[in-house]
Amino acid sequence: MARKWWQDAVIYQIYPRSFQDSNGDGIGDLEGICSRLGYLKDLGVDAIWLSPFYKSPMKDFGYDVSDYCSVDPIFGTLADFDRLLEDTHKRGIKLIIDLVPNHTSDQHPWFVESRAGRDSPKRDWYIWRDPAPDGGPPNNWMSFFGGPAWTFDAQTGQYYLHQFLPEQPDLNWRNPEVRAAMYDVMRFWLRRGVDGFRVDVMWLLVEDALFRDEPENPHWQPGMWDRGRHLHIYTEDQPETHEIVREMRQVLDEFDGDRMMVGEIYLPYEQLIPYYGTPERPGCHLPFNFHLITRGLSNWTAENLRRIVEEYQASLPAWATPNWVLGNHDQHRLASRIGHAQARVAAMMLFTLPGSPTWYYGDEIGMVDGDIPPEKVQDPAALRQRGLAGDQGLDPGRDPERTPMQWTPFTYAGFSTVEPWLPVNPDYPERNVETQDADPESMLTLVRTLLVVRRETPGLREAPYESYKAPKGVFAYLRGRVVLAALNFTAEPKTLAVPPGEILLSTYLDRYGAVESTLELRPNEGVILRLQ
Ligand code: NOJ
Ligand code: CA
Repeated sequence: MARKWWQDAVIYQIYPRSFQDSNGDGIGDLEGICSRLGYLKDLGVDAIWLSPFYKSPMKDFGYDVSDYCSVDPIFGTLADFDRLLEDTHKRGIKLIIDLVPNHTSDQHPWFVESRAGRDSPKRDWYIWRDPAPDGGPPNNWMSFFGGPAWTFDAQTGQYYLHQFLPEQPDLNWRNPEVRAAMYDVMRFWLRRGVDGFRVDVMWLLVEDALFRDEPENPHWQPGMWDRGRHLHIYTEDQPETHEIVREMRQVLDEFDGDRMMVGEIYLPYEQLIPYYGTPERPGCHLPFNFHLITRGLSNWTAENLRRIVEEYQASLPAWATPNWVLGNHDQHRLASRIGHAQARVAAMMLFTLPGSPTWYYGDEIGMVDGDIPPEKVQDPAALRQRGLAGDQGLDPGRDPERTPMQWTPFTYAGFSTVEPWLPVNPDYPERNVETQDADPESMLTLVRTLLVVRRETPGLREAPYESYKAPKGVFAYLRGRVVLAALNFTAEPKTLAVPPGEILLSTYLDRYGAVESTLELRPNEGVILRLQ
């Protein structure tokens, strides 16, 4: 079967608020993204994923949608979206948009109608329950953003479920009308021509039908994250979820042109891989593999990374497409987690592993976490935790990884002409696209070159992964016995026995040429070798 575009596509995630402001209100927008397509083409990405730009009260910065078939005026208009899509396609780049099916905004007309009365025709579109006998929430389920996952509605005397903010009520996916409505939303955008969806919290779409309490987590301690109190056997990864994923797949397959979905799923491999479905009944094209983030960044050693990669390779069925991620808008910045030298090694690993990698905007210039003063914190998750804790709290939540893209060494880093919604990182005079573009050894040059090498080296995109023996501190692997990646995860020099070959790229961007039988790796160096 011919390879599909998404089987080795480099997906670039844009957080629209923070990429480029075009109209001087300090918030990024679609027009701004349009103006930066040339940059993305030069960078060499195959697809763009846009975080939500739909009409929204912005309680969770767009992950609280009040109209799925519109563009919020902050970001532009539907006509702007159509132009962005057209311009993206003209450049040979695919466009994937965010689908947020688990919950709506509490301002969505569906919820307004649902909460209007117990006999509302849309009552059952959301999850309403009577209070417990003591008047409290119906069970012990906790929200991801702190506190109970239930909010009482005094007017109708019942609680509604929300896995996130109270302003993000969960839809009832057991209701066929809800399914039909969301599939029509998908069709709306597919007809406009989008290439697919990144599906928000795919593993949370359904909860236990009996609303049983979740068991205590024996490892939880006071002071830890609220939601960590329980083991989530009734609010995550319920069996019916796979039916829904299958139905979403069928909607995508109604359209020609290889439309696809990538699903947000934070689960161990044995629970993650079933989201691919089976060859006869395929499900999600790319269930996000977050293990490099969740298990890798906190223990950044060659041995741990080899384990993460090889466990995945071993458990993935041959027909399923692997995928890898190192950052997104919910995770602290790559360079802040592992340092700039290792971020270069990480990029080389990401773009030489088999399958489809996803890259977070700004990581290509090594953007670091912003330092957000407590009074400037915007992230609703952080603010809610703070409110619940009854203190000022210092945790800036997810703001640090959402600061404006750094384009130039000039005012507001070229992101905007006015003060942006989140402070520009003060390192922008040195760390920005313009400066790194002119520097032959910058992180930006490395990422761009890695993507050239990835495109132009037979084997790197499609050949199978094969483990390669390496000394402690080095992770090495072959791709189809024609390419060898050797990655030094330490600050010490290392030596590796290799077959004769030619250096295609070093993360230092300063050496090429023949290698006989030994490869000397400098501290924090990764090398791609083409074997003879
Ligand atoms: C996951 C998204 O990535 C995150 O940013 C958002 O807050 C939650 N889903 C709720 O939609
Ligand atoms: Ca703007």
